[in-house]
Amino acid sequence: METLLKEKPFKKLGFDHLETVEIVNKLDTLLANYQVFFHKLQNYHWNVVGSDFYDIHDITQEMYENGLTNIDEIAERIRVFGKTPTYKLSEYLNKSEIVETTHELSAEYMVKELIKDLSTLASFALETSEIATENGDIGTTHMMNNLIVSFETNHWKLTAWSNKKYV
Ligand SMILES: [Fe+2]
Repeated sequence: METLLKEKPFKKLGFDHLETVEIVNKLDTLLANYQVFFHKLQNYHWNVVGSDFYDIHDITQEMYENGLTNIDEIAERIRVFGKTPTYKLSEYLNKSEIVETTHELSAEYMVKELIKDLSTLASFALETSEIATENGDIGTTHMMNNLIVSFETNHWKLTAWSNKKYV
């Protein structure tokens, strides 16, 4: 322990400025994408119509409820590093690769969108996990790996619903 401390002088949690910025930027990008995704889930939850109403209404509720917890944890992880997470809706939209859609969509189209968005979220979480691992930040790596599992599980559920072998 003493040797480690000598090699790496303590800054914030043992990470220097550059390491912190690398990790936090990745977390913030994931946060922005997740916030836009969260609102898409609510759009579909409220506005889906047709015989698949309950399927979409229920899965989107499950996903946005989990999303609320996950978003909170990502933003608070940024605070752990002493940085400020993006909090403006306008900035989320600017930073997010995930884009909003209209509400007048078929259930199939909504599911297609969500499957694509879950892949995007999983990619950002993987990038964040890799940067965290490179910098020795196992706390963020652990958080990201759990997120990836949940994105992949939802990806599977929606893919199975849409009855497509590969999406
Ligand atoms: Fe509701």
